[in-house]
Amino acid sequence: MAKKVALAYSGGLDTSVAIEWIKEATGMEVFAVSIDVGQQGESLEVIRERALKCGASDAYIVDAREEFAREYCTLAIKANAMYEGEYPLVSAISRPLITKHLVKAARQFNCDTLAHGCTGKGNDQVRFEVSIQSLAPELKCLSPIRDLSMTRDKEIAFARKKSLPIEVKAENPFSIDQNLWGRTIEAGVLEDIWKEPISEIYNYTQDPNFDQSVDEVTITFEKGLPIALDGERLDPLTLISKLNELAGKHGVGRVDMIESRLVGIKSREIYEVPAAITLIKAHQELERVTLEREQARFKRTVEQKWGELVYDGRWYSPLKESLDLFIEDTQKYVTGDIRMQLNSGRAVPVGRKSEHGLYDYNLATYEEGDTFDQLSARGFIQIYGLQDKQAAARDIRYGKINRLD
Ligand code: ARG
Repeated sequence: MAKKVALAYSGGLDTSVAIEWIKEATGMEVFAVSIDVGQQGESLEVIRERALKCGASDAYIVDAREEFAREYCTLAIKANAMYEGEYPLVSAISRPLITKHLVKAARQFNCDTLAHGCTGKGNDQVRFEVSIQSLAPELKCLSPIRDLSMTRDKEIAFARKKSLPIEVKAENPFSIDQNLWGRTIEAGVLEDIWKEPISEIYNYTQDPNFDQSVDEVTITFEKGLPIALDGERLDPLTLISKLNELAGKHGVGRVDMIESRLVGIKSREIYEVPAAITLIKAHQELERVTLEREQARFKRTVEQKWGELVYDGRWYSPLKESLDLFIEDTQKYVTGDIRMQLNSGRAVPVGRKSEHGLYDYNLATYEEGDTFDQLSARGFIQIYGLQDKQAAARDIRYGKINRLD
């Protein structure tokens, strides 16, 4: 019987505490698995060192940035994914990818158990464990922080007692998760939902009022996929990174919201999502030009469901995979350019161009050369309104409704 655990290791407080705890509590060997999804900050080498110093038997590191951009962020763009209308699913789309690599590492080290350092109050525990059930149901799962019910303060005390080589400021314990798709900040002083967020928490974006200048960027899409900025062809990872910088400079993509977690808690979340907001706004605009009306309407329903499934940890669910196929099918004409203006916290589409668009100047124009047959509108309206006309006449017959009073 293998006595080995593969732990999703970020290098932060929770997972550093977890290494020692698992060893003490179970006697199992712990293997730390760190996955780069564009979280920046420390190098994976530094994180590996810390894992070893915190007691891991070995460490497994993967640079998954390119994969994250290509297979996860781009799906979120095509789906215009915004949970509760505001949150582009930064953490939610990274968990299924992290889980995939965690399972691969477990196979390599011959582990029979996976572990994560999530608390018992958030969505991430659900995302990890539900993904594991889909990818490797034979593996057991351990959640040391949750199962010990450690509070943040207890974790800090434990880390100090064990002299774990991690820095923690006890007075300002924000919980931060960041990757290529954005940055999430919660807890600490943010839990007072009446108080405005303090400026120190931000890192991907500048104060939107700091700089009033205007930048324009043209984003080219091919079948829903962003492929170029200002005519320069870029792979998804480079394109998203560049846009994070450019839009972040203008304070684009700061979100301060009260969010409904899957586990029933309302929480205050701050997000910084400069590239995500800019790309989704541009993509939505191109869809306005290229998608037929009913298809566009139906897609909005699909998008909402897609976002909810992904938020709720169901990345590998049959419904999410079926919705992916629908979304992909809608993208076949979503090709063209959107010119975005970036200024004082806003990303606004100001120009659109598409050879596959359904916008027809000759139909739309009020100038000479209009090809729309205005006379046929008359008959259309008579038949279109017939159903309401019949029903209204019946109301009058029965004296039930007088809509004029
Ligand atoms: N509320 C967001 C979500 O559930 C962000 C979670 C961030 N995770 C974290 N461990 N700080 O997707």
